[in-house]
Amino acid sequence: MYQERIVSGMRPTGALHLGHFHGAIKNWVRLQAEYPCYFFVADWHALTTHYDTPEVIEQSVWDMVIDWLAAGVDPAQSVLFIQSRVPEHAELHTLLSMITPLGWLERVPTYKDQQEKLADRDLSTYGFLGYPLLQAADVLIYRAKFVPVGEDQVPHIEFMREIARRFNHIYGREPGFEDKAKTAVKHMGSKKAKLYLQLRTRFQEQGDEGALDAARALLEEQQNLSVGDKERLYGYLEGSGRMILVEPDVLLTEASKLPGLDGQKMSKSYNNTVALRDDPEVVKKKIRTMPTDPARVRRNDPGNPANCPVWPFHIVYSDEKTRQWADAGCRTAGIGCLECKQPVIDSVLAELAPMRERAQKYLDDPTLVKNIVTDGCEKAQKLAQETMREVREAMGLGYS
Ligand code: TRP
Ligand code: SF4
Repeated sequence: MYQERIVSGMRPTGALHLGHFHGAIKNWVRLQAEYPCYFFVADWHALTTHYDTPEVIEQSVWDMVIDWLAAGVDPAQSVLFIQSRVPEHAELHTLLSMITPLGWLERVPTYKDQQEKLADRDLSTYGFLGYPLLQAADVLIYRAKFVPVGEDQVPHIEFMREIARRFNHIYGREPGFEDKAKTAVKHMGSKKAKLYLQLRTRFQEQGDEGALDAARALLEEQQNLSVGDKERLYGYLEGSGRMILVEPDVLLTEASKLPGLDGQKMSKSYNNTVALRDDPEVVKKKIRTMPTDPARVRRNDPGNPANCPVWPFHIVYSDEKTRQWADAGCRTAGIGCLECKQPVIDSVLAELAPMRERAQKYLDDPTLVKNIVTDGCEKAQKLAQETMREVREAMGLGYS
């Protein structure tokens, strides 16, 4: 039940570009082979900032799913869904809001940052303040182990860990916990029970994290324990209460950062992107017209790759040999900038070609996409409902 699941979401912001691909999606594609992955379109999160332009949401949602599929997110391996189609996220958000101190939300650094950055919008709303709590619900509802995100999201993951801890602290206590946990241990069978207790002692007395991991793994594979007993035994390892919600860890995307065509961060609002589904001719033109080291005014002027927006593209796309060729050619004015860009153009086109092909299949038959999402929503919802049953019961709402 506490499988090493992965959950991540993305706000629908229109066509995905190479920055998204190298910064996040490429990593998702890698992870889906190793873990059960749940990837969703965070449409409610989009509304926290774009509540007054709902018309852009729907198209962006489908574009985003198609881009994920095009980029290699595989619906046979990953669960793809839309946040608003699993309304349990909202229920958990409401229930968690009961125990969320206002100060915790106000202190999340992105709160003031974004308000300042997006000064043209009125973000003094309840929804925007609650952004990290909604995000916490997104992850906690799947009892996920890891959340692959970029550096900027780390405070949000920290926040959700604190919420999970607080929840377990308040609702994981139960009368006779110790006795119940001990009874649960017996249900493991004598050999496993003994191992579990040894590992627990090693962790509690010597702080041995390896023992903690081993004990968790042992619990994970237990088939014959009830959900409640598993929660008790996870909790018993570390403390004195049930572990109803799981504290997720951040899985920092070890991404090759790809800046935009002008050297700033790649972003649609800077108009410096290469979209995953840009036409090849457009891609060529965009790269050919990229600015280069301003010192290379004429063909004969030597340059320095460190001052050139093309260079990060070589770092991401070129092999060592090509990079040496470009570096030397630039510094000695042995090559021109168009020449230098050609291998980059070739590599980007080669990367995008299969994506365009995959996207076409889905553009030709949108029902394929709808079916993938419907299927994903069902799978996600099933898991979400299991957690909600536990959460409701813990909060005194177990009647029906
Ligand atoms: N806040 C995230 C971002 O801006 C998007 C997001 C919403 C998310 N819910 C999430 C990411 C849950 C990871 C997990 O990128
Ligand atoms: Fe940039 Fe290459 Fe031109 Fe040097 S030769 S300035 S690295 S594009």
